[in-house]
Amino acid sequence: MNDQTMPRLRRSCLAVPGSSDKMIAKSQGLQVDQIFLDLEDSVAPIAKDDARERVVEALLTGEWLAPTKVVRVNDVSTPWAYQDVVRVVEGAGAEIDCIMLPKVESAAQVAWLDILLTQIEKARGLQVGRIGIEAQIESAEGLVHVDEIAANPRVETIVFGPADFMASINMRSLVVGDQPPGYEADAYHYILMRILMAARAHKKQAIDGPYGRIQDVEGYTRAAQRSAALGFDGKWVLHPAQIDAANETYAVSQADYDRAEQILQAYEYYTSAAGGGLGAVMLGDEMIDEASRKMAVPIALKGRAAGMSPTTTFTPPAAVAGARA
Ligand code: GLV
Ligand code: MG
Repeated sequence: MNDQTMPRLRRSCLAVPGSSDKMIAKSQGLQVDQIFLDLEDSVAPIAKDDARERVVEALLTGEWLAPTKVVRVNDVSTPWAYQDVVRVVEGAGAEIDCIMLPKVESAAQVAWLDILLTQIEKARGLQVGRIGIEAQIESAEGLVHVDEIAANPRVETIVFGPADFMASINMRSLVVGDQPPGYEADAYHYILMRILMAARAHKKQAIDGPYGRIQDVEGYTRAAQRSAALGFDGKWVLHPAQIDAANETYAVSQADYDRAEQILQAYEYYTSAAGGGLGAVMLGDEMIDEASRKMAVPIALKGRAAGMSPTTTFTPPAAVAGARA
């Protein structure tokens, strides 16, 4: 994502088991930013083959409200991973925005998927490089290598996988995504920040993973607010009950969106010849400069991607003076 590229919205990323026709059908009418059809941990080993066919069929025939469609394949240590990719991308590649690769532990694993996708795209006449990769960080080893994982140009997002991660480090909680008892601070802070730094260093999105207690919307919201405050772009939802909380928590507020658009307009005006070619100026009671513009860009782009319109605009002082004269 460069400075001016419109990011995909990923406030709410819905997990849909690829083995369930019922859940696939239900997911089509839900107001989420992304769905991912899962071939990994929500599908039993004996159902994997069948799930691939269901997923291809659903992608070819189904219509979703969600603008972004992703398939999660099995991880590279399994016997299923290569066939997952070959079958779903050969079968329905034009309908897939990204492949999610779970339990990523090294840049080589992402490179494997990148090369395989390129081969299939060439063989099937698909646009090479269009299908992105979502890399899940779900272990200590994955976190240690997250910088190099995020560096692959196909990677669009780094996704935290709390359940597998908690197992990987022996965290003392059995509730997915919840705080372990006996530790006052946020037990996920370091992990989330580490993922966020790698993602942002490579201009990628950062997505928070699931919260297991699906009926506890307050607990979900608390967990979402923590990663949203740090700068994460969205979070998984496992159940329709969690969707509104995700869409609201990761949304740009109207006030922040208005302010971001004002900063961009004011900065453009003041740095131009008409505005005096200034670098640092007062906008209301705040000084803005190039750094303020950089902070405003992602907020403005997210608001625009969500279809927001500004409720206020910046009026150049000369125009005000002109109007009064
Ligand atoms: C998701 O894949 C998780 O392990 O939390
Ligand atoms: Mg996992």
